[in-house]
Amino acid sequence: MKKRIALFISGRGSNMQAIVKQCQEGILKDLAEVVLVFANKQSAGGLEYAKELGLETQCIESKGLKRTTFDQKVLALLSDYKLDYIVLAGYMRVLSSGFVQAYPKQIINIHPADTTQHQGLNGYGWAFEKGLETTKVTVHYVDEGLDTGTIIAQHPVDLKGATSLEEVERRGLAVEHYCYSKTLQGIFE
Ligand code: GAR
Repeated sequence: MKKRIALFISGRGSNMQAIVKQCQEGILKDLAEVVLVFANKQSAGGLEYAKELGLETQCIESKGLKRTTFDQKVLALLSDYKLDYIVLAGYMRVLSSGFVQAYPKQIINIHPADTTQHQGLNGYGWAFEKGLETTKVTVHYVDEGLDTGTIIAQHPVDLKGATSLEEVERRGLAVEHYCYSKTLQGIFE
């Protein structure tokens, strides 16, 4: 049985696009089905792409809502979808305990840094400012802390010769797009 997954986004959604592609015609084809693309912002660019592909999309605007109130609304929405996994792909919100507990070991995130070294926002900015020659992207389970969940996989990003933040991001995202689906493949198999 294919895993029923929801992809959660807050913006551009390039990781979401890469995963959708792998589900449709790549390494996740026999393993997973994207049953929902969810955004917490109506302005999330990735929503348009998902709609164009005919995917089911939903949005609840998080702005102005208390974390627990918003998450309860999202949980109510998700109950119809019978999800096996929630895959966070640039979802820029910390999940409440109640949300995490509703999907134990079923929420996965990609973080643009080594989560043991840098948590929270701006992972590529952090690597650039530190002048790192190599950074890592991390795929991990989501627990109740900020980027503290069990690490599933880490992949190095070669930053040698990268002289701008844009270049760091470009290299990092290329690794993310490849390794997120590859890691999901290992989990779903
Ligand atoms: C990605 O670099 C992802 O790792 C990062 O946001 C970007 C989203 O890009 N996520 C976080 O920083 C989570 N703390 P995308 O919308 O193009 O996938």
